[in-house]
Amino acid sequence: MRAAGPQNASPTLPEGVGYFPQYLDSNRQEELVEVAREVVAQAPLYRPSMPGTGKPFSVQMTNAGPLGWMADRTGYRYSKTHPETEKPWPEIPTILLDLWKELCGYPAPPECCLINHYDAGARMGLHQDRDEIELGAPVISVSLGDSAVFRLGGENRRDRTISWRVSSGDIVVLANEARLCYHGIDRVISGSSRLLKGGGRLNLTLRRVNRHCVPS
Ligand code: SIN
Ligand code: FE2
Repeated sequence: MRAAGPQNASPTLPEGVGYFPQYLDSNRQEELVEVAREVVAQAPLYRPSMPGTGKPFSVQMTNAGPLGWMADRTGYRYSKTHPETEKPWPEIPTILLDLWKELCGYPAPPECCLINHYDAGARMGLHQDRDEIELGAPVISVSLGDSAVFRLGGENRRDRTISWRVSSGDIVVLANEARLCYHGIDRVISGSSRLLKGGGRLNLTLRRVNRHCVPS
């Protein structure tokens, strides 16, 4: 019998949303965990706070790339440096640059790889990715480790939403008319994967921030 609740099969998705279940085989998932670990060794996970209230996020974050996305009391923004170490973020690992090329069709590399770490109780509220100047490039989002319930809406906060379970190795792409769709993570299904030694879920999100200038 199928349990009630989030759909396990992929629902009908709006135009511009790509869902690639099990796009990454287990070797590639392990390689990605390894490179994420190397990034974290140089740029430790930290807990951002909500603009205004200063309430701590339930996820921990870090970044790779020339620009890292961050949040603190003063707002959301891209920064060239880690808020605690004040060092530049490490480079985006080649395997992720290759994945961007494979999936994306944008003529320049991503500038940000946001790494989100979810432990058992972590979630991410419905939001848009809208701090980028270039909205013509897709957002590519990779799931590793424990499965989670991914929620997707439309361009307006009140639009109808759908949810489905994303598992380790799955990729979600928000492109074109879906680039500004609201999305979030309702909950993590603790213990559903053995990929991460300490459990939990890693999400790697690749984004282009600035417009790519085509030389004339
Ligand atoms: C995000 O939108 O920043 C994260 C989405 C996810 O964890 O899958
Ligand atoms: Fe997002």
